[in-house]
Amino acid sequence: MLQKSTTNNLEAFWMPFTANRQFKQAPRMLVAARDMHYTTDDGRQILDGAAGLWCCNAGHGRPKIVEAIQKQAAELDYAPAFQMGHPKAFEFASKLVAMAPAGMDHVFFTNSGSESVETALKMALAYHRVKGEGSRTRLLGRERGYHGVNFGGISVGGIVGNRKMFGTLLTGVDHIRHTHDPARNTFSRGQPEHGVEFADELERLVTLHDASTIAALIIEPVAGSTGVLVPPKGYLQRIREICDKHGILLIFDEVITGFGRLGAPFAADYFGVTPDIMTTAKGVTNGTVPMGAVFVKGEIYDAFMNGPEHLIEFAHGYTYSGSPLAAAAGLATLETYQEEGLLTRGAELADYWAGALWSLKGLPHVVDLRNCGLIAGIELEPIAGQPGKRGFSAFLKGFEDGILIRTTGDIIALSPPLIIEKHQIDELFGKIAEILKSLD
Ligand SMILES: Cc1ncc(COP(=O)(O)O)c(C=O)c1O
Repeated sequence: MLQKSTTNNLEAFWMPFTANRQFKQAPRMLVAARDMHYTTDDGRQILDGAAGLWCCNAGHGRPKIVEAIQKQAAELDYAPAFQMGHPKAFEFASKLVAMAPAGMDHVFFTNSGSESVETALKMALAYHRVKGEGSRTRLLGRERGYHGVNFGGISVGGIVGNRKMFGTLLTGVDHIRHTHDPARNTFSRGQPEHGVEFADELERLVTLHDASTIAALIIEPVAGSTGVLVPPKGYLQRIREICDKHGILLIFDEVITGFGRLGAPFAADYFGVTPDIMTTAKGVTNGTVPMGAVFVKGEIYDAFMNGPEHLIEFAHGYTYSGSPLAAAAGLATLETYQEEGLLTRGAELADYWAGALWSLKGLPHVVDLRNCGLIAGIELEPIAGQPGKRGFSAFLKGFEDGILIRTTGDIIALSPPLIIEKHQIDELFGKIAEILKSLD
């Protein structure tokens, strides 16, 4: 018999990215999960339209992954990550590089997307320095970008609400503009036609700062947390060309696009553009044990492998980098993805998904629809003077009606587990349609 957990003292836990006072007045508690559904503390089933937080790509409670974690905890709970190893971390790294885009043949383990981003930024700075180009200290990001919440990530990130409270951030950071262009691209199905020239913003910053001062540009191939911005056709290719021309490292933040979200293993595969460094997390262990993985090209790793062999080449790492539980969970996750064809399943479902999304066109409040792979963005007209209120109401209503959706401001972002069935896609969008009709 399920006990209602609302009798707990809810005050002690300062919840992350949550309206704490609202939540504690009307808690939304999840107590179990299996495949496509969560169970609430009052016994209701909630269809997961968000893969938890873009992370449970194979769905929930997957037996192989559960068993691997249980077994690993009993066999080797922890092994020191520095100057020591355990076999599963190496096995997992080898399997990851085998499925990564060509040339990305080394992996550095972290515990989250935010840590993957910090790691990638530090690698970029240190790489130029070990190569004798220590003047390349500038980091570039993009407006509306989300790269986690640590200081490097919010510095290169471009979401004002995540930046404005936290002082001056890192120095020597600049941003190219975002790619959102409602005047020309509203209701683009898939990649928008217009906006390749937004990539030329990078040339503008090179002209301003000089390439010799710029270490790297970090961008999300598809921007998620800002509310689903799909790159215009040709944009990522042009970004790659400009980075190459000026010796700027290109970092793709694939924390949400990695592991099948677009219907290919990585966005780099989907768009046919390979970065120099690729940050991942979330789907790497199907959201079970916290883990991130930063993929790097061979020449970056090799550049560090100089100097006396007893010295540490890269002064960076985490107590839990490649921890036994995470590595075991990751290995079982990859097996599950591969056995069930999940890394490409999104490609089979993408058209159906887009069709279901487009059925919302013309419904109240909908000002734009955006999609790529198994991601959808539904932008709602804000209530005058109350930005975010309509989006939040949609989220709350969804939970009441048995669907988990994610909202960012007045934009609904959907990213279901890749095991979703067509009838569940119908249910998700059917319920959203009813919610849109009922919203103020
Ligand atoms: C693109 C991107 N980078 C980084 C992060 C941060 O990941 P984490 O919350 O695991 O630190 C996220 C999280 O949503 C993300 O979407």
